[in-house]
Amino acid sequence: MAPITYFAKRFIAGEALPEALKVIRKLNRIGFFTTFDHLGESVTNKDQALNATDMYLKMLNALDKMSLDKNISVKLSQIGIDIDLDFCEENLRKILIKAGKIDAFVRIDMEGSDYTTRTLDMIRKLHKDHKNIGAVLQAMLIRTHEDVLNMLDKNISMRLCKGAYKEPADIALQKTNEIRNQYISLAKSLLLSGIYHGIATHDEAIIKTIQQFSKEHMISKDNFEFQMLMGMQRRLAKKLIAEGYRVRIYVPFGSHWLPYMLRRLRERKENVWFIVKHLFER
Ligand code: FDA
Repeated sequence: MAPITYFAKRFIAGEALPEALKVIRKLNRIGFFTTFDHLGESVTNKDQALNATDMYLKMLNALDKMSLDKNISVKLSQIGIDIDLDFCEENLRKILIKAGKIDAFVRIDMEGSDYTTRTLDMIRKLHKDHKNIGAVLQAMLIRTHEDVLNMLDKNISMRLCKGAYKEPADIALQKTNEIRNQYISLAKSLLLSGIYHGIATHDEAIIKTIQQFSKEHMISKDNFEFQMLMGMQRRLAKKLIAEGYRVRIYVPFGSHWLPYMLRRLRERKENVWFIVKHLFER
């Protein structure tokens, strides 16, 4: 097996829907919540965007039929935001209508900063008719404090992450500690809001701070969730469940895994060494 494929297997639930559903089932059985993602982004062709939309409808159907956690994560560039805004909205509405019928939740992933305003505008617009839509905000972006206030004002559920895209210094914090501090400050606002949000990080220091903060403010463990990517911090994720926290695992599948994997490699240099080591072991 090629090293990149070997590596990808840890982070991706397979290329086809049936094998990915098995991963979801296994995670749900051991007590994890899940959010299901079909890999793909930067689509510039209408047929591809329609196919991606259909795949999400299929995924929702399957999750419902198999009584699995009905929660999906969607990127707007996968369903046509770069082609035409109205076309993308139409596709997203199809997904939200189907999700609404089966009581499923649709989280819109956040992409690079070129997408932030368009994505948040779309979410705010569709949230008026579909309460089952949620946003993702990136702590590294300087604008995020204002975006959080804005989304809270509309009662929109958020997933808070650090941000996986390289952004310039005029719009984004660059230093690890500054990003961590901003993350903690934003996460506290989310926890105090009374709205259900996702704290998406593998950073143990942040997780400990959030645990402490929620205890001090008597915020119930049922009123928020931790979120992690499949294949990361598995021991910590299990420990959190054992302590009674809600933990959702982001489960991506599909054949377009390269951009996702490159972001995971960029986050952690040890992953690059892992691949290099396997190259020489072959
Ligand atoms: P940090 O990068 O500091 O990692 C903390 C620790 O986690 C590391 O020390 C290591 O132990 C482990 N770890 C982190 N990355 C790893 C890796 N690649 N491989 C192995 N171990 C690793 N981003 C975005 O821009 N838009 C989005 O929509 C999302 N969605 C999303 C969903 C969920 C559920 C999660 C958990 C994350 C995202 N992200 C995201 C990604 C996020 O922005 C960020 O890039 C990563 O979570 C890494 O940041 P951490 O907060 O984990 O901290």
